[in-house]
Amino acid sequence: MKILMVCLGNICRSPLAHGVLQHFANRKGLAWTVGSAGTGNWHVGAPPDHRSIAIAKEYGVDISEQRAQQFDSHHFDEYDHILVMDRENLRNVLAKAKTPEHRTRVQLFLPDGEVPDPYFDDGLFDPVYQLVATRCEELVREWSKNKQSSRRKIE
Ligand code: 4NP
Repeated sequence: MKILMVCLGNICRSPLAHGVLQHFANRKGLAWTVGSAGTGNWHVGAPPDHRSIAIAKEYGVDISEQRAQQFDSHHFDEYDHILVMDRENLRNVLAKAKTPEHRTRVQLFLPDGEVPDPYFDDGLFDPVYQLVATRCEELVREWSKNKQSSRRKIE
């Protein structure tokens, strides 16, 4: 199974979700490949923000080797699930869908809300890490037992 995490810059939130879910999946012996991308192109080729690298490291996850890429429509064919951090990401990703089936691959990372953007607030990196890690634990639990139930169509 392949999962793509998407935020705006691909340097703060989605690299954390990418690294943490891959780490948890590996620990459980699941053959999952996790990636990440940003809807914007400003940071393409750059490593994650130093504050995301630091908070992940504090919890034993190394995200320093990741490099930012921009989300594009070819990702719909490469990934089974595309999980977006906020509703603006959701609009921008869905705008690139070329088929109704593409749309079924996209959902909010948090079922009932958004992951706040910590870019302008140093104090948000720890709470964002906690949100991301809690949801990644849930995803591993839910999707390792029943993958089909995880697909949700967004109208
Ligand atoms: P991210 O955070 O979407 O979580 O990676 C941001 C990173 C960079 C910018 C905005 C948000 N930026 O404006 O450069």
